[in-house]
Amino acid sequence: MIAVRIILVGYGVVGQGLTNILLTRRLETLRDYGLNPKIVAIVDKGGAAVNPQGLDLERMMALKKKGTVAADRLFGRPEISPLDIIQSLEAEVLVEATSTNIKNGEPGLSHIKTAFKTGKHVVTTNKGPLALALPALTELADYNKVYLRFSGTVGGGTPILEFAKKCLAGDKIVAVRGILNGTTNYILTEMAEKHTTFEQALATAQKLGYAETDPSMDVDGLDAACKVVIMANWIMNKKLTLRDVKVQGIRGVTLNEISEAAKKGNAVKLVGMINEGASVAPTEISRYDPLCVRGVLNAVTFASEFAGEETIIGKGAGGIETASAVLRDLIDIRYNMANRVST
Ligand SMILES: NC(=O)c1ccc[n+]([C@@H]2O[C@H](COP(=O)([O-])OP(=O)(O)OC[C@H]3O[C@@H](n4cnc5c(N)ncnc54)[C@H](OP(=O)(O)O)[C@@H]3O)[C@@H](O)[C@H]2O)c1
Repeated sequence: MIAVRIILVGYGVVGQGLTNILLTRRLETLRDYGLNPKIVAIVDKGGAAVNPQGLDLERMMALKKKGTVAADRLFGRPEISPLDIIQSLEAEVLVEATSTNIKNGEPGLSHIKTAFKTGKHVVTTNKGPLALALPALTELADYNKVYLRFSGTVGGGTPILEFAKKCLAGDKIVAVRGILNGTTNYILTEMAEKHTTFEQALATAQKLGYAETDPSMDVDGLDAACKVVIMANWIMNKKLTLRDVKVQGIRGVTLNEISEAAKKGNAVKLVGMINEGASVAPTEISRYDPLCVRGVLNAVTFASEFAGEETIIGKGAGGIETASAVLRDLIDIRYNMANRVST
C-alpha cells in the first residue's frame, strides 16, 4: 500500500492528538480506508525532527513532553525553519496546526502557500489563514491541482462541514445559523442558569480551561466569525473574508437581558448567521429550538431548499476530537488522490 507522507507543522494539543490517534488506529485505518500515513517531519517552535523513512511517533510524543522534538539525537534539526522543510522535503500532505493569528494569518498562511507551490495537499485546523484569505487559497490550491481541507476548523471533531457538503449534496443550503464557540456558550449558560455576571462566568470558564487568559478571540465573537467565513465559502460558495462579517461579542450581555429573554421562553446565545449577509451577534432564540444547546457544545442549523432544517450538535473543540477531523480529511484526500477527483 502506497504511503501518504505527512509533514506535521505545529505539535501542540491538536498535533499530538493526531500522533496519538495514528498510534492507536494505525492497523484499522490501514485496513478500512486504504490510508497508510507516514509522518516524515514534525515541527514545533524549537525546530523539527525529520526522517524521510517515517518518524517513531511514540518517541516523538515522549520528546515533546520534555520540550521539543528537535531534541531527537538522530533526527532532530533545531536550526531548520518550517518553510525550509515544507519546500525541500518530499511529502504528499502538509498538516498545518500552528496557532491561529487573525491579524496576518502567519505563520500558517506562508506554510500553506508554500505547500501548494511545492505540490503538497494541505489539511489545516488553523482558522487564521482561512478567515483572511480562503477565496485566494482555494484558487491557489486549484491552480496547483492540490486539495485543501479544514474540517477541524468548525466544530472540532463534529463533522459540520462534511454534513453540509456531503450529506446535503444536491440540495441548496439557503441559510446557516450556528452556535460556533463553546467558550461563549458556556459563559451565557452559566449566566442564565446560575445568575452570575459576565465577569464571574468568564472567570469560571478560565479556571476550567474553557477560556484563554486573553479571552478576546472568543468573547468578542472573532472565533465564531472565522467559522462563519469558512462555512460561507465552503458550503455556500460566498467569497467572503473576515472583513465582510458584522461582529458583536458577548461582553455587553447583561443578566437583565438574559432574564427578560427567559420570561419569553428564550435564551440569549451568540449566533453566527449566513443568509444574504454574514454576522455574529448575541441573539434571542427559543429554548425549544434544537440550536439552543447548553455549556460548551456547538450546534449548527442548515436550512436547505428541499430537505428543510437540520441541526448538527457536538463538542466544538478538544485536541483528540479536532485531530479526528484531521484524520477524516487525510482519508478524504487519499480517496480523492486514488480516484483522481478534481480539486
Ligand atoms: N485545541 C482545539 O481544541 C482546537 C480546535 C479547533 C481548532 N484549533 C486550532 O488548531 C491549531 C492548533 O491548536 P492547538 O490547540 O494544538 O494549539 P497549541 O497547543 O497552542 O499548539 C500550537 C503548536 O504550533 C507550534 N507553533 C506555533 N508557532 C510556530 C512557528 N512559528 N513555527 C513552528 N511551530 C509553531 C507550537 O510550538 P511549541 O509546541 O514549540 O509551542 C505548538 O506546537 C490552532 O490554530 C487552533 O486555533 C484548535
